[in-house]
Amino acid sequence: MEIRDVAVVGLGTMGAGIAEVFARAGIGVVAIEADEQALRSGLGALDASLSRAVSRGRLDGAQQADIRARVRPATGFGDAAGVDLAVEVVPERIEIKRQVFAELDRVCSPDAILATNTSSLSVTAIAAGTRHPGRVVGMHFFNPAPVMGLVEVVRTVLTDDRVPAAVADLARRLGKTPVEVADRAGFIANALLLPYLNHAASLLESGYATAADIDMAATAGIGLPMGPLALLDLIGLDTSLSVLEVLHAEFGVARYCPTPLLRRLVTAGRTGRKAGRGIFSYEGGRATDATGVAGSAGSAEAVDLADAPDTVTVIGSADEQEADLASALASAGLNVTRNAAHPTDLILIVAEAGQPILPTALAAGRAGQAVGAHLPSGFAAGALVELVATSLTADTTMRTAAALAARLGLSVVRAPDRPGFLVGALLYPHLADAVRMAQDGYASATDIDTAMTLGCGYPRGPFELIDAAGAADVLAGLRAMYIAYGYPAFAPPPLLAEHAAAGIDFAAVRRARPAATSDDLARSGPAR
Ligand code: 3HC
Repeated sequence: MEIRDVAVVGLGTMGAGIAEVFARAGIGVVAIEADEQALRSGLGALDASLSRAVSRGRLDGAQQADIRARVRPATGFGDAAGVDLAVEVVPERIEIKRQVFAELDRVCSPDAILATNTSSLSVTAIAAGTRHPGRVVGMHFFNPAPVMGLVEVVRTVLTDDRVPAAVADLARRLGKTPVEVADRAGFIANALLLPYLNHAASLLESGYATAADIDMAATAGIGLPMGPLALLDLIGLDTSLSVLEVLHAEFGVARYCPTPLLRRLVTAGRTGRKAGRGIFSYEGGRATDATGVAGSAGSAEAVDLADAPDTVTVIGSADEQEADLASALASAGLNVTRNAAHPTDLILIVAEAGQPILPTALAAGRAGQAVGAHLPSGFAAGALVELVATSLTADTTMRTAAALAARLGLSVVRAPDRPGFLVGALLYPHLADAVRMAQDGYASATDIDTAMTLGCGYPRGPFELIDAAGAADVLAGLRAMYIAYGYPAFAPPPLLAEHAAAGIDFAAVRRARPAATSDDLARSGPAR
């Protein structure tokens, strides 16, 4: 069935973005809000986005006018009578969603598809409250909707076969990639993303690392487009909190239990970018840490290059990383000694993920002067170094080491001497969640990688990241975290252990035995 005319109900940040996506694809949009004021604000957001596209030369004035003319504002449901599809984008409260669906059910033709953009609520529960549950489907976009390339198409046990196929076709017409999933809290992307964001917020709250360091570890250390704390502010802390609550209620595991900091900030009205303040403050056009969590001031704290020493002791296991670091230090004009018996004022211990540096620092005899240096993605210009402090490392030593790293052109984050340091502590449990999702049979590795690359802008999906790091290294990192903390979320999933033991990457298995993707499932009919 061809979809020519749609209704978008709710013009908040996501709704306005979704209306824009439809209108840009040549589809007529009835844009519905509860009252004139909400309508003005939603259309204002849409106009601002179109004007930005014009100012960047992506659209010309005539195209902007055409797109805008396709959007027909309304404050009642009556104008949705003739549409082929209605997408509900109202706040994440089941009673509000049900009310909207009751109206749409009453007004729209029985052939029209009714979709919800819910982030986490049960599509089945929404469908079951309507007169024609077979036409109800999830159509889940990602923020910012005009930019992110994924649409999760959520089928319930009640959905008619024609419906997900029609919505997937429409997503392709919008220039998006559809991934079909069964109705389970968080679907693919949110079920993986939100616990990772929650974990990042808990690392901030516990003082494990600063806000600036956590975000830099994700961007410079993993290559993600945004740090997890900035992303929480973009999604909205209120939305993030409600998705976590739903995930926690559905799966009952601690990893989904919202860290208290999130609830505190939401209670205080600091819901993120849209409020001008969340974890960061956006006042004055510049994001600054605003949590007031002890020790959360950015480690981007001014580094004085004059603090860099002339001589440094490097201790390591004589591997490639140590050789690279020593040669970079030497070419920066430093005297490098590798003789731990006569250590200098700064002792750099080349750290290995999963291995504490404290024993080496103690063995060197001057633990106050010893700092771990871990290069999560190897040594390269502009790369990230994790400076690892034991509880004996002096503050002046950290400053000296930071100045030295800056002199080498490295980005710096500070991490405690705990398993995974900072990059691994963020990444390993996230990758374990992805493996568990595939292991549970909810989604294929291919669909998971597609969801995270197109929905969240990852340069590589979780399985590609595991392949790049090596399953054995990820396994070792997780094991060390699990032994240290005992949290079930850190327990290595058996599927990961199998790949590590067999020494085969996930891509090789996909090549040998291509996993069914959601497209295959759509072609072969309803399998679930
Ligand atoms: N609306 C419209 N367009 C926008 C935009 C917005 N809010 N923000 C950015 N853009 C456009 C810009 O205009 C620019 O377009 P151009 O290339 O045509 O000029 C393009 O996006 C890139 O923008 P910038 O250069 O300003 O910024 P970045 O390159 O840093 O990209 C980003 C910004 C696309 C937001 C990128 O940082 C990213 O991919 N971040 C990850 C976002 C993410 O994970 N989203 C998913 C959240 S989860 C979710 O939404 C599910 C929900 O249920 C909770």
